[in-house]
Amino acid sequence: MSFKNKIDTKRLPQHIAIIMDGNGRWAKGLGKLRVFGHQNGVTAVQQTTEACAELGVKYLTLYAFSTENWNRPQLEVRALMELLVSTIKKETATLQKNNIRLIAIGNMDDLPPKCQKELMEAIEATKNNDRMTLVLALSYSAKWDILKAVKKISEKVKNNLLDIEKISDKTVDENLSTAGIPHPELMIRTSGEQRISNFLLWELAYSELYFTEKLWPDFTKEELYKAIVDYQNRERRFGKTSEQLSS
Ligand code: FPP
Repeated sequence: MSFKNKIDTKRLPQHIAIIMDGNGRWAKGLGKLRVFGHQNGVTAVQQTTEACAELGVKYLTLYAFSTENWNRPQLEVRALMELLVSTIKKETATLQKNNIRLIAIGNMDDLPPKCQKELMEAIEATKNNDRMTLVLALSYSAKWDILKAVKKISEKVKNNLLDIEKISDKTVDENLSTAGIPHPELMIRTSGEQRISNFLLWELAYSELYFTEKLWPDFTKEELYKAIVDYQNRERRFGKTSEQLSS
C-alpha cells in the first residue's frame, strides 16, 4: 500500500523544507560526472513539487544553492547555474498551469545576470498564483539572512524607528527573507547526512527533522509521502509535556 493512503490530509505540514543532498554521490555511483547527478536531481524537484501541490501543502522550500556552494569547482558552479536557468525557463509554464507561485530567498546579487533575469521573470509571471508557493533558496545561508536582519533591525533602532525593548521573535521573523512565510513544520534531508548546513536556522527552531539515506535523484513522491507519515506519527510538544498536550 502506498504511504499516500496513510497521510491524514487534515494534519498536513503547511510548509516543508528540503536539503536536496547526494547528487554528486548518485552520479559517482554510476561512474558519471557530478553534473549528471544535478541534472537528474531536477526530476526529483519536479516530482516533489507536484506531490506537495497535489496534497495541499502550502509552502515548499528547496535548498538549491548555498552561499558555501560558490566554493565548489568553477565548472560545477557554472553547470549548476546553467541548469537553474534552463529549468526555471522550462518550468515556468508548468508552474503557471498548476497555479504555483515561485519566490526566491538568498543573495540574488551574487547570481549571474542571466540567472537573475530568468528568475525575476518567473517570479513576476507567477506572482498571483495561490495554490502553493515554491521557495528556492539560492546563494542562501541562514547566517547571511540572520546577519542581514540584525543590521536592518539595528538601523531602525539607530533611526529611532524602533524601541529596543520592543524587539521580539516577531521582529526577527519580519526582517528575515522568509518574512510572511510560516516556519516549516517538517525539514527533510536526503543522502544520510544529519546536519542543518546553514539552512533556515531561525525558522527550523521547532521543526521535525527527517533524514533519509535516499540520494536526492532517487527521491520520489512515495519517499515524500513516507516522510509526511513519519512526521504525522510524531508528537510535537513545543517544550510542553505529553500530559499537557492530551489534557
Ligand atoms: C547537493 O548534492 C545538491 C546541490 C548542491 C544542488 C541541488 C540542485 C538541483 C537538484 C538541481 C536544480 C534545482 C532546481 C531547483 C531547478 P551534492 O552535490 O552536495 O551531492 P554530494 O553530497 O553527493 O556530493
